Amino acid sequence: MLIALLGRILQKIDSLANKIKAHGMLARFKSVGSECHLEWPIKVHNPKWMTLGNGVTISWNGWLYAIEQYGDQSFTPELEIGDKSYIGNSCHIVVCNRIQIGKSVMIADRCYISDNLHEYEDVSRSIAENPMRVPGEVRIGDHSWIGENVCIYGNVTIGKHCVVGANSVVMQDLPDYSVAVGMPAQIVKRYDFSEKRWRKTNKSGDFIDDLGLQKLPRAASHASA
Ligand SMILES: CC(C)(COP(=O)(O)OP(=O)(O)OC[C@H]1O[C@@H](n2cnc3c(N)ncnc32)[C@H](O)[C@@H]1OP(=O)(O)O)[C@@H](O)C(=O)NCCC(=O)NCCS
Repeated sequence: MLIALLGRILQKIDSLANKIKAHGMLARFKSVGSECHLEWPIKVHNPKWMTLGNGVTISWNGWLYAIEQYGDQSFTPELEIGDKSYIGNSCHIVVCNRIQIGKSVMIADRCYISDNLHEYEDVSRSIAENPMRVPGEVRIGDHSWIGENVCIYGNVTIGKHCVVGANSVVMQDLPDYSVAVGMPAQIVKRYDFSEKRWRKTNKSGDFIDDLGLQKLPRAASHASA
């Protein structure tokens, strides 16, 4: 009985200490909206380059890393997470240039998002001693849902209201209102606004279901985050 009571008191103290640590960390971000939650423990490097909108939740055990210096390379990184977005536990987000996560985006557990890659050209040096390649930026459009264990890296724009299936690897742009799965992630469905339903597609995004083949309109093939 006494042990159980002591256990509960220690749990409360622990949870209060975690809240204080999370608040202290949020105070070091570039800017933070109202009602943001950072769950402790979490590893955050260089929070001064990170901006959170209102109502953002970042779950425990993650690692947010804004790289300013890598060997002799210098960067000015920007990580932006929009209003009401949710980042699941154990997510790893690494930015050298820019990662922009839109509003109300849901990112499930154990995802990896990065705008950079380790070079491996020089075989006389370890991979860690090779330079960092930064091909562009990562953008994830409003309302998108990224499933568990997804990797997104390089120069990638995922459009609005997209769905990326669990365990997928996204290395190419996805148009607005599309579902993509696999390694590399390829489109399998898009929302048809004239039919008001999701329809199956081939990997180019052309509808291929009961209504027959209909090409993805050119404008829709460029995602806008
Ligand atoms: C992507 C997802 C939403 C698609 O759901 P859906 O619309 O019901 O899709 P369907 O079952 O009709 O699948 C469409 C096709 O994609 C394939 N597919 C679906 N999910 C896949 C995945 N994660 N990886 C590889 N292929 C997948 C299906 O096998 C099917 O292929 P087929 O047309 O050749 O038969 C779902 O499969 C998924 O991965 N959800 C993520 C779950 C998750 O991570 N939740 C975390 C909690 S927030």
